[in-house]
Amino acid sequence: MGKNILKRIDLIFKDEADCKSVLKKSLQKTNDELINELIASGLKGRGGAGFPTGLKWKLTSEQKADSKYVICNADEGEPGTFKDREILTQVPYKVLTGMALCGRIIGAKQGFIYLRGEYKYLLKDLNVEIENFQAICQELKLNFKVDVFMGYGAYICGEESALFESMEGKRGEPRNKPPYPSEHGYLGKPTVINNVETLAHTFTIFQYGAGKFKDLGVQDSYGSKLFSISGDTPIPGIYELELGMTVEDFVNDFGDGDTKAVQVGGASGFCVPRKKFRETRIGYQGKLTGISLPTGGSMMLFNSSRSMYNLLSNYLEFFTEESCGQCTPCRVGTQQLIEGIRAVKRGDKNAAYLEKLLALTETMKGTAKCGLGQSVANSFQSIVENFREEMIF
Ligand SMILES: Cc1cc2nc3c(=O)[nH]c(=O)nc-3n(C[C@H](O)[C@H](O)[C@H](O)COP(=O)(O)O)c2cc1C
Ligand code: SF4
Repeated sequence: MGKNILKRIDLIFKDEADCKSVLKKSLQKTNDELINELIASGLKGRGGAGFPTGLKWKLTSEQKADSKYVICNADEGEPGTFKDREILTQVPYKVLTGMALCGRIIGAKQGFIYLRGEYKYLLKDLNVEIENFQAICQELKLNFKVDVFMGYGAYICGEESALFESMEGKRGEPRNKPPYPSEHGYLGKPTVINNVETLAHTFTIFQYGAGKFKDLGVQDSYGSKLFSISGDTPIPGIYELELGMTVEDFVNDFGDGDTKAVQVGGASGFCVPRKKFRETRIGYQGKLTGISLPTGGSMMLFNSSRSMYNLLSNYLEFFTEESCGQCTPCRVGTQQLIEGIRAVKRGDKNAAYLEKLLALTETMKGTAKCGLGQSVANSFQSIVENFREEMIF
């Protein structure tokens, strides 16, 4: 407990308010040079899925269109994440600089910050920051405008295509993919959409070069990442750590000495039980280095006083509530899962019924239309398989 094994990084929140010089320096480079820098850094999206950021910008820059857009996804709806609001509070100019440079590279003149409804209290200060930033853009003859679009508190509107629909004044429902946003995004135009933290990292990369970023982390998961750490920990909060750490090292630093599980990536992420702490790493390495879990940064610790049945039940209630209802596997599947685990816990169904529910989550993974319905399987399977005894009557 509290061993300080993991190096604390301070790149994101380090106050380097001189965004003008970063912009100026970057504007002297060609678009190809900037994209190559981003690709060389190995930066992957910090919103959860880990798509390579340089590639996303490159693909969008290659599209021919009369207008394009840059959108900062500040919906921050995953249970257990609270880092993006802190970036927007402390270093919003880094995000704005990343957006403006993305605009120059892809050929977009308009950017939007899609701000979570519950973060309305940030709006006033954010608008002041935007106004100041806009003046710098004008001075540097960079034609790029940023506006804030207020979300309204629906988790699904953090999904990129549902977010576009909501911005277009429609119900926030995911679209079919492909086409992807790089081709067909906001208003059907090529759009780069990035998480707040991803954009803040581009500031570091454009300021110091790809090397400083790539020196951190491990292969395929370069750089640092902000983690929102909560639950049974004596030191909850937001920490910037290198990617690639084992859950064991994480628990040694942040656990309370009695950690029985860590939920990595929020309700849509994975539950790691104590016996797998050592073999599980945090990052986007795929299966190359044992088990590696991607995360938008939510890390929730649970000690032995916690009921994993209650945890799963809570997550399922969340998904049932937040499902947009558009497709059957998710709309009906989430209902069946919650009713199913309740029936098993009451003793109305025997333990073997859990196998049917596990099979249902596999079906949802393969057939649900978007990441919400597909990812219910992550927490369901990892909690039921590792804490089966807590699920039954
Ligand atoms: C249900 C759902 C909710 C999501 N919510 C968010 C969110 O709040 N913030 C975010 O950045 N990405 C969220 N995403 C991921 C976005 O769809 C998208 O992948 C991300 O904004 C891309 O940015 P990145 O490449 O910088 O990570 C969500 C995805 C799903 C399926
Ligand atoms: S998976 Fe769920 S949230 Fe996604 S489109 Fe289907 S019903 Fe809507």
